[in-house]
Amino acid sequence: MATASGKFDINTSYKLNSGHQIPVLGYGVYQTPAATAESVVLHALKNGYRHIDSARAYRNEQPCGDAMRASGLKREEIFFTSKVPPKSMTYDEAKKSIASTFSQTGLDYVDLYLLHAPYGGKEGRLGAWQALREAQKEGKIRSIGVSNYGVHHLAELEEYIKSSGDGSKIDVNQCEVHPWLPRNDIVDWCKQRGVVVEAYCPVIRGQRAEEPVLKKLSEKHNKTWAQILLRWSLQKGYVPLPKSETSKRIEENADIYDFELDESDMKELDMPDSYEPCAWDPTTSKD
Ligand SMILES: NC(=O)c1ccc[n+]([C@@H]2O[C@H](COP(=O)([O-])OP(=O)(O)OC[C@H]3O[C@@H](n4cnc5c(N)ncnc54)[C@H](OP(=O)(O)O)[C@@H]3O)[C@@H](O)[C@H]2O)c1
Repeated sequence: MATASGKFDINTSYKLNSGHQIPVLGYGVYQTPAATAESVVLHALKNGYRHIDSARAYRNEQPCGDAMRASGLKREEIFFTSKVPPKSMTYDEAKKSIASTFSQTGLDYVDLYLLHAPYGGKEGRLGAWQALREAQKEGKIRSIGVSNYGVHHLAELEEYIKSSGDGSKIDVNQCEVHPWLPRNDIVDWCKQRGVVVEAYCPVIRGQRAEEPVLKKLSEKHNKTWAQILLRWSLQKGYVPLPKSETSKRIEENADIYDFELDESDMKELDMPDSYEPCAWDPTTSKD
């Protein structure tokens, strides 16, 4: 676990509501082609990452499973996530999605399974959640959560969990979060309930490399703009999920434990009213 003083290392993990641990740095594989995924995931595992963020929709679960086996690490040393695709948000389709993850990866359990986006209407969302809960009870999935859920989607799910008495707990909400998209409403809701916020697009797909504040902090700490962003995410208490297919960047993105942003640095990156997503934003969907 992270200590109160905010010290982290490559092995830091948080305890989820399920009781399982989640490594605080993840490795994302969105848009990583299946043909190269095994070698880049292997490179990440060799460089200390212990957490892989995949999804049915990314079409690279199989090479992720292959890399996990090829790494020589024990299964329980690696945290693997997949997700129910946005178009599969019903009970039946979510069950099929989970079954397919097992046949693709060859794993005997999955650490975390998420609902990729709050689509499909209330019935679809809650049906898909029931499928996750069943798989968790069967021991196939250790922790369950959501992605791209706005506060109104989270409240709907919380209400369902209370009224159904199914005993489920939301472990994670995975959303785009960075200084230009702080999402304080979602973050506060999650914090109050021990729901871990996973931050996707933590390096903003490289789009803010020239921002003066990042240049300044980069010079001050002798670290790259990407490392400054990742460190911000860690110090905010999130689980950042940087993606890279470039060996040097994979290493760079994990080399974030030898410096600390101080209070004034964190303040400079505090833009509470900023709303500038670089990806899609299903958190605002109303149906
Ligand atoms: N749940 C969702 O809806 C959702 C949506 C988006 C993402 N995600 C998850 O979050 C992960 C990360 O998000 P993302 O891939 O969209 O964005 P990201 O990690 O912010 O950015 C990835 C891009 O930035 C480049 N990059 C990475 N590290 C860099 C560095 N140190 N210096 C310069 N450029 C660097 C990568 O290039 P190269 O690969 O060419 O090195 C790639 O083009 C995804 O892979 C996925 O697992 C989830």
